[in-house]
Amino acid sequence: MSKDSLSVELQRDSETPLYRQLIAQIREQIESGALPAGSRLPPSRALAGRLGISRISVVNAYSELRAAGYLSARAGRGTFVVRKRDAAPADAPPRPPPADRQRAASIRDMMRLARKPGVIDFSSGSPPSEFFPVRYLQDALNQVIDRDGAAALSYEAAEGYLPLRSAVRDYVRAIGIQCRLGDVLITGGAQQAIDLVLQSLLSPGDTLVTADPTYLGVIDIAQARRVHIHGIPIDQDGIRIDALDAIIGDLRPRLIYVMPSYQNPTGHLMPMHRRRQLVRLAARHGVPVLEDEVYREFRFEGDELPPLKALDDSGVVIHTNAFTKVLLPGIRIGYLIAGDAYNERLSRVKQAADISTSGLHQRAIHLLLERGVLAQQLERNRIELRRRRVAALAAAQRYFPLGSKWFSPQGGLYLWVELPERGPSAAETFIAALQRDVAFAIGGLFYSGDGGSHAMRLNFGIHRPAAIDEGFARIGAAWRALAADIGGVEAGLVL
Ligand SMILES: Cc1ncc(COP(=O)(O)O)c(C=O)c1O
Repeated sequence: MSKDSLSVELQRDSETPLYRQLIAQIREQIESGALPAGSRLPPSRALAGRLGISRISVVNAYSELRAAGYLSARAGRGTFVVRKRDAAPADAPPRPPPADRQRAASIRDMMRLARKPGVIDFSSGSPPSEFFPVRYLQDALNQVIDRDGAAALSYEAAEGYLPLRSAVRDYVRAIGIQCRLGDVLITGGAQQAIDLVLQSLLSPGDTLVTADPTYLGVIDIAQARRVHIHGIPIDQDGIRIDALDAIIGDLRPRLIYVMPSYQNPTGHLMPMHRRRQLVRLAARHGVPVLEDEVYREFRFEGDELPPLKALDDSGVVIHTNAFTKVLLPGIRIGYLIAGDAYNERLSRVKQAADISTSGLHQRAIHLLLERGVLAQQLERNRIELRRRRVAALAAAQRYFPLGSKWFSPQGGLYLWVELPERGPSAAETFIAALQRDVAFAIGGLFYSGDGGSHAMRLNFGIHRPAAIDEGFARIGAAWRALAADIGGVEAGLVL
């Protein structure tokens, strides 16, 4: 590429960081065709010199554009434009911006690398597997087959196995939800519950509003169902009500999706006043809210708060939870608590999806509940997760670069860490960390649009304290080596 094909003008007095300006300008030139696929970009050192900025800014910009699918780096040959513009017919159902899809896809490709044997992997969403009640499940399965024989292996009612539905009704009543048996629908985990709600309430082209960042699985479902997803910024109390209020009139969303307890990925707990505001706002606008409470029972500090559905007099809230995170992710049992306005549609969509959730597994989970295995498991998780959280905070303090930010979660599995904006991105740190046999989830995965370039989600819950310490030490070392390598000292980073 000749030097002149890339034209960049940076505004040094702008509030937008220089590397962000650089990203925007390169992206615009790729999208407009001014930089066609195959163009070679100048080496980072040369472009930094030409623009009079630090090399780390250029490295960061290239790295984000690579993660977004605009560029690719070929070892020893340089950095090239790869993206082809992808046009959809004007009347095609709306799709998320291609840049976001490609960005997510390429981050996902990177994340696959984490599944290497011997890696200390903080990237997963799993609870600690050493506590899975495997023997109890084995006994329960045998007992169910002895007791119910073929009935346990027949088609089950689409709404679920009646004794399990009753147990769920009693369980959610105990946390303040007014619930009748007809409001309980058993699902294949919370993931299917979310999908059923989207299928029932939204059509292609409709808008779903959620926090930014949010649960990756909801972004996937929205894309698969061709639903627009709009991310609302969060603060320490969760989704921002002012921002939500401001867009509801414009976007007319058909659903608001939130995780009030120990949000994935940030770990935030929505306090009582925010819960009330959210329910009031949704009721005022008549927009249904899906609350996903899969981390609710992973509380190891602070008071228990009521779910949104317990605060809802107008029937706008749909509640989902599951026995996956708290008992066994591989036994795919979850539930939805809806209400008259939704029950019938949901069970029709459920039946169309898979006829019914495994009756054998529903019976086994029911038996585990009857035997008090869940209560025992929750207690064990609570004690151990608190201990692991302490280890994670201490290790973050010890090893992560100065200027990194995180807060102490009161529950859940995750620590959300924001690395210094001026240093290596999370994607770059991920690659360097992997060379040291440690992995985490790259923050950008959890955004419906741009964002999270310097954030990492670390599942501290699945590792013992010694592994947390070792893993965080390796991530810190990887970041430092990278920052030094690309001129961090010169860029004013504290190493
Ligand atoms: C917020 C959230 N909802 C739903 C799920 C999916 O849960 P399940 O295994 O019950 O389908 C996950 C799993 O990571 C999650 O983090």
